[in-house]
Amino acid sequence: MKPEDTLADLERRAELGGGEARLQKQHAAGKLTARERIHLLFDPGTFEEVDKLVTHRCRDFGMDEQIVPGDGVVAGHGLIEGRQVFAFAQDFTVFGGSLSETNAAKIVKIMDLAMKLGSPIVGLNDSGGARIQEGVASLGGYADIFLRNTLASGVIPQISAIMGPCAGGAVYSPAITDFTLMVKNTSYMFVTGPDVIKTVTHEEVTKEELGGAMTHNQTSGVAHFAAEDDRECLLLIRELLGYLPSNNLDDPPRRASDDSPEREDPALDRLVPVAPNQPYDMLDVIHAIVDEANFLEVHQHYARNMIVGFARLDGRPIGVVANQPAVLAGTLDIDASIKAARFVRFCDAFNVPLVTFEDVPGFLPGTVQEWGGIIKHGAKLLFAFAEATVPKVTVITRKAYGGAYCVMSSKHIRTDFNYAWPTAELAVMGPEGAVNILYKREIDKARDPARARAEKVNEFREKFANPYIAASRGFLDEVIHPRETRRKLITALRNLENKRDTNPPKKHGNIPL
Ligand code: HXC
Repeated sequence: MKPEDTLADLERRAELGGGEARLQKQHAAGKLTARERIHLLFDPGTFEEVDKLVTHRCRDFGMDEQIVPGDGVVAGHGLIEGRQVFAFAQDFTVFGGSLSETNAAKIVKIMDLAMKLGSPIVGLNDSGGARIQEGVASLGGYADIFLRNTLASGVIPQISAIMGPCAGGAVYSPAITDFTLMVKNTSYMFVTGPDVIKTVTHEEVTKEELGGAMTHNQTSGVAHFAAEDDRECLLLIRELLGYLPSNNLDDPPRRASDDSPEREDPALDRLVPVAPNQPYDMLDVIHAIVDEANFLEVHQHYARNMIVGFARLDGRPIGVVANQPAVLAGTLDIDASIKAARFVRFCDAFNVPLVTFEDVPGFLPGTVQEWGGIIKHGAKLLFAFAEATVPKVTVITRKAYGGAYCVMSSKHIRTDFNYAWPTAELAVMGPEGAVNILYKREIDKARDPARARAEKVNEFREKFANPYIAASRGFLDEVIHPRETRRKLITALRNLENKRDTNPPKKHGNIPL
């Protein structure tokens, strides 16, 4: 064979992966192949593959006769919207995408390069786990990847897509990365599968129930996004990267916007219901304010009493954190606190300014919450907001009660600009709760206790359920008309563009885990 023919033959074999039959099986399962996925992820024609000719070194179990160039993972770099990104895609057609020693070394190599170059890394997971024929060598490969995931955390954005099986210890790489996406019906993640569970706990559960896309998006919170299919998943990764800087020393990419920074929305003046216990949808507030109503919600299906996600204001990416009065009255509970805390820390690590919309009646009461550790979990959110040094702006739309007031990016924990709408109520607790404590004896003795109670509630509401006492103390910088919120936020973020703030020198803080 001529030298150029040898290369062509090796490349052809690498591109064929596990062979035609297995490629067809992959398609029949509703999945794209590793190369098709890479093709959709990157700007056309920009992907440069590395280690295409790497092969495994296993000689047991007849493995010396089954050698596929590339060894079950496609790795390299290319451009996404013109910016450099690294990626690896596990090829399920080659030994079930299982991780061998050499296949892990390929992943490690591009992780190291991504770190040196300050570029995001995307992992497309579709694997039967550790390559069984290689034993402990493959386990070492996993640990090498986990170490790099950990060291890269907060330095370059790391995104994991689960596009097939991801089981056993293999789940811990996605778990350390910043965002996990799952494809509905074709992906699953679990530490131990249904068979082991049946043996140990006698529970019967399907793979989908145990660790399918919606299980991890809705119930466990392990995944941040659920996609209908591979294509949607890959487009979602591109969209997500559009909000993120390449690394912790970069600013997030600003984009031209046709949405005027001066735009006012009079509908916002009427959005908060007059009755304090009537819900409204905080997503309406967010959509009305951000550029072109574009909001990429993160963790959309999990802890829905809290909203987090990315948007732009005058073209600048922002991280939005918002209470959702339409779910559990917007109370803070364990899941909502953890969800928001992780998001706040991501934004702080990657220079994404934080905009908080607040309507929170307090922490969710109950034994489930207390025994579940709401004290330490709520503290995570407090800690995250307090240590964040990125530009921080808060808008209180209605309730800001008790400890939750302090937690939700209040002035006292270094928020730069704190605004409130005229409908805001800042107090230690709601009028009903306060009256029950302050006037219990008086109300009990009254001839008409219900009426006496209502009078006291009204009195308390008039006196304290407004933003003006907080404004008079400087806890709020300004009480604004809801319709002008977009303009106010854009001006605030423009003014904060050169903000510099630091934390005391230390190895790292001790966030209450
Ligand atoms: C080597 C593997 C493999 C593995 C699958 N294959 N998993 N080869 N090592 N771990 C091969 C199969 O032999 C088969 O080869 C091909 O991939 C496709 O697998 P199928 O079983 O035909 O596919 P499917 O029916 O879709 O089932 C997928 C699966 C199943 C559920 C993932 O293959 C499976 O259970 N695999 C083993 C999972 C496992 O126990 N892994 C080790 C976990 S421990 P042919 O030649 O027939 O196409 C682990 C520890 C990590 O991962 C620790 C990190 C710290």
